Amino acid sequence: MKIFLDTAEIEEIRTAARWGVLDGVTTNPSLFAKVGGSYDDVLRQICKITPGPVSAEVVAEDVAGMLREGRHFAKLAPNIVVKIPMGEEGLEAIARLTADGIKTNCTLIFSSNQGLLAAKAGASLLSPFVGRLDDINEDGMEVVRELVAMVNVHGLKTEVLAASIRHPRHMTQAALAGAHIATVPQKILRQMIHHPLTDKGTLQFRKDWETVQKASPKKMLDDAPIAVAAS
Ligand code: E4P
Repeated sequence: MKIFLDTAEIEEIRTAARWGVLDGVTTNPSLFAKVGGSYDDVLRQICKITPGPVSAEVVAEDVAGMLREGRHFAKLAPNIVVKIPMGEEGLEAIARLTADGIKTNCTLIFSSNQGLLAAKAGASLLSPFVGRLDDINEDGMEVVRELVAMVNVHGLKTEVLAASIRHPRHMTQAALAGAHIATVPQKILRQMIHHPLTDKGTLQFRKDWETVQKASPKKMLDDAPIAVAAS
């Protein structure tokens, strides 16, 4: 499963890239509002950090506006994916941008039927919102499972991107459900890295090493260069 970072914060994206786990980025108007500045600049910077897909979301509500914003975003960098909300206008915009060769991510998907239609219209990514469905006492991950099954059964040319991820368990469940991608806030990515037993174990190794050092100092690394074995 590919991992995208769900943020518009440049430093968070740089950090995940350094960790070697970043496959792409999703942004939306709410995430961009937290950083401010120019959306175009933020998107250009993100696209320089990752060669993976970077979702840029339209705010227009009519097809003409969605097309104008989508075509504008697509010119910013080759890895931009235009994010368009599910709906009658959204489907039409997805179909027309797809005809232009522009990749799209259909967002705000809350049922597998919505995802099926978005895939038919040509969306390259389908974003079911897991956490927001859980919030209203539904099983958000079930939509991911159903969409993955539909994609596999019918060989649809699209990827299921589990979005609105709220906790580390969602990431495990998305991976087991066969989601092609999950997009995750940095806080949850950090929670995935850390474990109290890892911290405890690291501390214990250090303490044991220091205790032995006090009794009889030892070197962890030899000074002599290591001869490379001939193959
Ligand atoms: C990503 O593409 C979505 O916009 C994002 O995951 C939504 O998450 P939220 O429900 O926590 O706002």
